[in-house]
Amino acid sequence: MANLTIRHAEIKDGVSMAEILRKIGWSEKRNNMPLKEVSEPIEELIKHCNKNTEGHTMIVAVDEENRVIGFTNVHWVPFVMLGSWEGYVSDVFVSPEAGGKGAGSALIKYVMEEGEKRGCMRLMLTNGKEKPSYQKGFYKKMGWTERPKVANFVYYYREPWS
Ligand SMILES: CC(C)(COP(=O)(O)OP(=O)(O)OC[C@H]1O[C@@H](n2cnc3c(N)ncnc32)[C@H](O)[C@@H]1OP(=O)(O)O)[C@@H](O)C(=O)NCCC(=O)NCCS
Repeated sequence: MANLTIRHAEIKDGVSMAEILRKIGWSEKRNNMPLKEVSEPIEELIKHCNKNTEGHTMIVAVDEENRVIGFTNVHWVPFVMLGSWEGYVSDVFVSPEAGGKGAGSALIKYVMEEGEKRGCMRLMLTNGKEKPSYQKGFYKKMGWTERPKVANFVYYYREPWS
């Protein structure tokens, strides 16, 4: 995309990030909540990440009209078993109307370069197998490897957005 900029997220981006999540529409509950109830917790997370940029990098992709069209969040994890650092990418989202123009690749490329600068051993993320991003090989095309022997476990305290 011409004139795509990647920059650190700012608190004011919370509303755009909430709108992007709602356009993607993965959560009916989130889509039915007032926008403010979606954006406020996001603003708190932006604040938290920006207070500790050693530990977190939250970035947004901005188009030529200064609209936030995507975002990514990565957490730099001190990993004893690796004797090094792992970057855990928790979020990669691009607004559907801005998709297919390189914003997603640009966000991931930024994270890959940042991890290299920090001397990380590797990056890690989860990708739903039913999602188009998995089926179109979005990460594989960028040089990522799917781990055949590792199961992904989560422990829930509650459902998202409840
Ligand atoms: C996955 C996602 C971030 C890709 O962003 P994007 O800006 O559309 O990606 P790009 O334009 O950089 O496209 C990169 C590649 O992805 C492929 N792609 C196109 N549309 C896609 C889609 N809807 N989903 C996934 N990949 C897609 C393209 O084929 C392209 O490959 P190519 O360069 O060989 O043509 C975006 O579709 C999205 O936010 N999806 C919903 C959330 C999601 O699945 N996130 C990732 C897992 S957490």
